[in-house]
Amino acid sequence: MTISMTRRKVAALAGAALLAPRAFAQTQASLPTRAIPSSGEQLPAVGLGTAYVFDTADAATQRKAEGVVQALIAGGGRLIDTASTYGDAERVLGDVIAPAGLRDKLFIATKLEQPNAAELKRSLTRLKTAKLDLLQLHNVRNPRQSLAQFKDWKAQGVCRYIGITSTFHGDFAAIEAVLGREKPDFVQIDYSIDDREIEKRILPLAGEVKAGVLTAVPFGQGRLFGAVRGKAIPDWAREFAESWPQFFLKYLLADPRVTAVIPGTGNPAHMTDNLGAMHGRLPTPEQRRMMVAFVEGL
Ligand SMILES: NC(=O)c1ccc[n+]([C@@H]2O[C@H](COP(=O)([O-])OP(=O)(O)OC[C@H]3O[C@@H](n4cnc5c(N)ncnc54)[C@H](OP(=O)(O)O)[C@@H]3O)[C@@H](O)[C@H]2O)c1
Repeated sequence: MTISMTRRKVAALAGAALLAPRAFAQTQASLPTRAIPSSGEQLPAVGLGTAYVFDTADAATQRKAEGVVQALIAGGGRLIDTASTYGDAERVLGDVIAPAGLRDKLFIATKLEQPNAAELKRSLTRLKTAKLDLLQLHNVRNPRQSLAQFKDWKAQGVCRYIGITSTFHGDFAAIEAVLGREKPDFVQIDYSIDDREIEKRILPLAGEVKAGVLTAVPFGQGRLFGAVRGKAIPDWAREFAESWPQFFLKYLLADPRVTAVIPGTGNPAHMTDNLGAMHGRLPTPEQRRMMVAFVEGL
């Protein structure tokens, strides 16, 4: 991934974009993206996860979601990951996105518990969209799980891509079986600098079957921030990371098999910081080893 602009320059250009939309379009075009393996479509490499943060459809959550979605778009992001089971998140997102006419600026991924038409209809209704970008089967645990219904829905134009997800390591064998046999467009799986099991098993297979990889829980649900509290970023990392979130996300993005990271946040400033991981250069393989040693030494 080539990274051409400092975060400050991008923020200035994004601000200027409020006055000059054409200039903003040019800035967006130069932002780093990753190709979705099954199509070649480019996707910005930092997205938004929405577990927990938008659980309750009230005025305060709505304002929070508006701020985060605006920050995502202003910072050049597109991908929002949600699920039918994330409380009211789908409804909150639908109420932010549809009235503001933002649907076409976003790549919306949601998850169903089952390949069930009623559950799908509920998600589409709550998200106020006729079509999803990515439809994922949540927490796959059966190695014989069929994706036939998801493939039918994709053929009918209900979604553009299909995927499977899990963050339960005990279910990784099922993920491997379904990924290898059904060859979905995406696998969403937990990956953080202090939890690298997928480097051994899921990432190589995803590369083989040409599945895009979305990394869930990139901060270990905030665990990593606790580990570095009160500590400064090491000097050798300052050439590629301006903050701890960028340090943690760039470790993941330095693997070219990772299509996008989806940190969860309900804070617009955090969203902007996370999007900063799309800029500046990525750590080298040697620096990645140093990053792991640093985190293991905490
Ligand atoms: N089975 C599955 O399919 C599955 C399972 C789990 C998660 N997921 C997906 O993966 C996404 C990410 O996982 P997650 O949200 O559980 O955990 P996470 O992204 O590892 O961590 C989220 C935590 O980090 C904090 N944070 C985010 N950006 C920050 C920043 N720049 N500075 C400081 N703190 C920051 C958030 O707090 P603030 O709100 O204060 O920023 C929140 O407490 C989920 O939202 C969901 O979309 C999928």
